[in-house]
Amino acid sequence: MKKAVYPGSFDPLTFGHLDIIKRAAKIFDELTVAVLDNKAKTPLFSVDERVNILKEAVKDIPNVKVESFNGLLIDYAKDKGFHTSIRGLRAITDFEYELQIAQTNAMLSKNQLDTMFLVTSVKYSYLSSSGVKEIAAFGGDISKCCPGFVADMVYEKYGIKRD
Ligand code: PNS
Repeated sequence: MKKAVYPGSFDPLTFGHLDIIKRAAKIFDELTVAVLDNKAKTPLFSVDERVNILKEAVKDIPNVKVESFNGLLIDYAKDKGFHTSIRGLRAITDFEYELQIAQTNAMLSKNQLDTMFLVTSVKYSYLSSSGVKEIAAFGGDISKCCPGFVADMVYEKYGIKRD
């Protein structure tokens, strides 16, 4: 069985992430979306909230699972038997950062964890979780950025009421 992990912060989940999830789920028999529980960062959503959001968003895709992890991705991947990590690439600006992570993971895992990049669909190439948070924090419209139930939760976090 071909399986892969799609790691990330997903704070919050965007349509760009969902696009990568749907496409990776067609390539692999089983895809695990792994939410990083990073104690060093203060996310907008707790790891449990992010896991629950993702579970709701992928509930109709049978071969996608959602989990959280902490520590190094290579350790989590080794534990779970993943040899492929999926990452989305939006633009050349992502590339340097992603290349560095991919090569670091290859080195740390002694080539046991490979990274596969899926190029983000053009219609989502402008999307980022940090952009979504900034727009929402100022009361802007994020309806084209993430599923409606996620948008409602983001506005609630910022105490923003929208009709
Ligand atoms: O959605 P993000 O924040 O761009 O995802 C980054 C992520 C979670 C893939 C990356 O930070 C990660 O794998 N962190 C776990 C710690 C780790 O393994 N670091 C070594 C690679 S540099």
